[in-house]
Amino acid sequence: MFFKIQKTPRGHLAFLIQNISGLSDAGLSKEETLFVEKQQKNGGKIITLNRFDYQIFLLFLEEKKAAYQTAEMLRKLGATLQNSLNKLKAEEITLINCSSLPAAAGLLAEGMALAGYQFLKYKSEGKKLRNTLQNIYFDKQSITLKELRKLQVITDAVYQVRNLVNEPLQFLTAEQLAREIAILGKEGCFRVQTLGKAKIEQLNMGGLLAVNRGSLLPPTFTIMEHRPAHAINKKPIVLVGKGIVYDTGGLSLKPTANSMDRMKSDMSGAALVTGAMYVAGQLDLPLHLIALVPATENRPGANAYVPGDILKMYSGTTVEVLNTDAEGRLVLADALHYAKKYQPELVIDFATLTGAAANALGDTGIICMGNVTDAIRKQFLESGYRQYERLVEYPLWEEYGDLIRSDIADLKNVGGPAAGAITAGKFLEHFTDYPWMHFDIAGVSYHTASKDYRPYGGTAYGLRMLLDFLMHYGERPEA
Ligand code: BES
Ligand code: ZN
Ligand code: ZN
Repeated sequence: MFFKIQKTPRGHLAFLIQNISGLSDAGLSKEETLFVEKQQKNGGKIITLNRFDYQIFLLFLEEKKAAYQTAEMLRKLGATLQNSLNKLKAEEITLINCSSLPAAAGLLAEGMALAGYQFLKYKSEGKKLRNTLQNIYFDKQSITLKELRKLQVITDAVYQVRNLVNEPLQFLTAEQLAREIAILGKEGCFRVQTLGKAKIEQLNMGGLLAVNRGSLLPPTFTIMEHRPAHAINKKPIVLVGKGIVYDTGGLSLKPTANSMDRMKSDMSGAALVTGAMYVAGQLDLPLHLIALVPATENRPGANAYVPGDILKMYSGTTVEVLNTDAEGRLVLADALHYAKKYQPELVIDFATLTGAAANALGDTGIICMGNVTDAIRKQFLESGYRQYERLVEYPLWEEYGDLIRSDIADLKNVGGPAAGAITAGKFLEHFTDYPWMHFDIAGVSYHTASKDYRPYGGTAYGLRMLLDFLMHYGERPEA
């Protein structure tokens, strides 16, 4: 989607109003005003008026109890509006904010862009299926240039993340993921370096190498960096993303008929942190950021790792494998250990880690856990609300650590049927020695049906929350 400020409105017009009195700006006739009043009494939120060669959409903004609820209402309204516009074969629209909420047009446009995403690469008739609406304009009172740029870059990043998630394994192998990250690095202005198999072996990344053993293709370990001269953090913030480009479960093969259907999306964490780096680079955020992506498939090949194997991880910790499907924590553990070399101020990981997280919250929220200060925790939760990518924190009580203690090694990679999301988090915690927050995005990263402004497939859920957090990072009162 392309956004622009226009001096004179173009295409269809959408007026954002709170009540009928806001209509004076829309230049309606008496009859039209009466019509609108009647429609609104009947509960209409979007009221359409036909002019000769364009339509006027009147969008009634309902103020909710909390600002974040009003914001979400606007994004959803945007999704509905973009649907109607594509049905009309509209190519452009101008948004005019007549409400008292300065951010209203931007939020509406955000919902429109997020809902307008399509992944047509593999459709033979892709061109025909393409949404007609490609341009959203604002009148100059309705958005600032800075907000416009932010909106453009963030929605572009959501598209990039979704593209990566939607690519099947046949295209997006671990090496291809590294290449795609390099391309985004060039476009987005961040540095990218990829370690190949030989280097990963030399470093003894035992977790990543074990998961890769069932695959014919090599693993990769990609390091991204955004280091502006004006960074407000002295020590870097490190992002880590799970990059399992396909999860068959390995020899502990995923059981039921369709449990593998969406497992190309097991690199959603990797895509998400790449998207965050893209925005950081494009908007030149004043933060020193590093992102790490350990990537491989998880397959039951001839030489695959087996339950019973004892791995020596990159950190030196030994791990008894009891389920090869609990592979995410193994590759993440090596990346979390790698992060120590930066003496980071904060480490944030994103991973489609457990079915337990998906079962607990469904597709409506992220489970997080970690050891950060209350001030940082609060910032994350607030960002979650503001972007409506909400968070629920789970505890990392020490008793849960007992569940992953092994009789034969330091740790085992599964903790039994109870508290699955937490025991996975406890496993990761073992490899950290810095302030750290873990986000389990298993339930939210992929939709099997379109919902509001998230179409079928990869959602990039969590990206806007993370960016909101990073953009407010400096404002944090020191805790
Ligand atoms: N990639 C899966 C988690 C997942 C499940 C993501 C559903 C998205 C949707 C992960 O690697 C996995 O298989 N986890 C196992 C761990 C278990 C064996 C301890 C799980 O949650 O079942
Ligand atoms: Zn798995
Ligand atoms: Zn997995």
